Amino acid sequence: MTGTDAATRKRLFLRTWGCQMNVYDSARMADVLAPLGYAPVEAPEGADMVILNTCHIREKASEKLFSELGRLRDLKREREATGQGMVLAVAGCVAQAEGAEITRRAPWVDIVLGPQTYHRLPEMVARASRAAGAVIETEMPVEQKFDHLPEQVASQGITAFLTVQEGCDKFCSFCVVPYTRGAEYSRPTAAVVAEARRLVAAGAREITLLGQNVNAYHGEGPGGRAWSLGRLIRELAEIPGLLRLRYTTSHPRDMDDDLIAAHREVPALMPYLHLPVQSGSDRVLAAMNRGHTAAEFLAVVDRLREARPDLALSSDFIAGHPGETSEDFAQTMALVERVGFAMAYSFKYSPRPGTPAAGAPFQVPEVEKDARLQALQALLRQQQDEFNRSRVGLVVRVLLTGPGRHPGQVAGRSPWLQPVHLAAPLELVGQEVPVRILAAHPNSLSGLLAAGEGIPASLSAEEPAPA
Ligand code: SAH
Ligand code: SF4
Ligand code: F3S
Repeated sequence: MTGTDAATRKRLFLRTWGCQMNVYDSARMADVLAPLGYAPVEAPEGADMVILNTCHIREKASEKLFSELGRLRDLKREREATGQGMVLAVAGCVAQAEGAEITRRAPWVDIVLGPQTYHRLPEMVARASRAAGAVIETEMPVEQKFDHLPEQVASQGITAFLTVQEGCDKFCSFCVVPYTRGAEYSRPTAAVVAEARRLVAAGAREITLLGQNVNAYHGEGPGGRAWSLGRLIRELAEIPGLLRLRYTTSHPRDMDDDLIAAHREVPALMPYLHLPVQSGSDRVLAAMNRGHTAAEFLAVVDRLREARPDLALSSDFIAGHPGETSEDFAQTMALVERVGFAMAYSFKYSPRPGTPAAGAPFQVPEVEKDARLQALQALLRQQQDEFNRSRVGLVVRVLLTGPGRHPGQVAGRSPWLQPVHLAAPLELVGQEVPVRILAAHPNSLSGLLAAGEGIPASLSAEEPAPA
């Protein structure tokens, strides 16, 4: 770094909560601020700017923000005492939903910006340095932020996220997303393909396409015709150097024939799908406004497994939605038994202000929600352990993503998104290699480099596996 660079370089600390779309947004905020001289740092101490990218999905998620803001007030004061400043910004879904509350409870915050306004960050930073009070930008502007974000993307590494769809029009009874992220919008296919090429050029070998309802994707394609997600995946799979594709999060209602066929026909599309179902009871699914029954979900699962027999599924569940009886909950347990999930997230229902379920009668008592969540998590944990153990002894393709925890170790990812640890030279990072799985751990696998294509025999710890 030259002397001038060091003098003009400003430190940017970004903390991210919530879903992968927030992780992607944080990367793009860093891209927007890079031309202003901001470079990311690992800790808030000494930072010239701190951005907290927040999540509003459950009550606990937003509480974390206020405790963090308390700590940052002290840091900011310490810096101000030495004549330096710290621009403090709150972004993301809490900013969108509770902008006024944030400036009231934490008047030391300089900028509050909603998820649709990141492209205006440079202007907000300039205004914040002049203004006395906080700069608040939580409108949903008519111009699309994607049209105004810089083309330049910093490398996200071997695995990268790419937002293709944003917002949601489904209005599930319990959920804040339609209010914090706005109406559903799909980016044009040309913009997505161009960004994917840039990510691959910057080193990505696996791209996960993101959207709150990613399989509702209907971006404008060549000639003005809308492309489905299945069509988009086929196009992206042609990019040289891109080994793997994934997408998340899907809605069971939008799992169309073309997308299911893509699971059969596109080898780069990994055999792992996150498909939230929330409940196994038709009564509760109707109360949630999910738009499908348990049987319809199971039919989608069967079709997917027929198309791709090695497909593993993960899901989201809510225990104790208003009106859920113990009989309804038993149906959720039965659905879990029937499907067998490789992984799952489960949550206690958390009332969110402004959503229909929050004001609904028959709220489930807290102790009951706790008991159901525990039972559900025990079953899901057992299924995850079984799935991990079922990989032991197999040779699986692992994409090596970077150094492991111990010297000589490399970390990677199985086709089913499991972290895998093995001894291998760092030069192999970025490649997909055959790994014989030797042990399953609660959240990862470990193994040995197996003999195979591209692996010199001297590196492999064993004889070639029989085909
Ligand atoms: N778009 C996805 C989910 C996005 S939110 C879908 O349609 O499934 C991620 C998960 O958070 C949801 O699947 C749900 O399980 C959980 N969640 C959302 N709101 C919640 C609430 N009020 N209480 C508890 N869990 C909630
Ligand atoms: Fe929320 Fe439902 Fe939209 Fe998913 S589909 S983001 S749960 S409203
Ligand atoms: Fe949270 Fe907003 Fe994502 S509420 S889950 S950060 S869309």
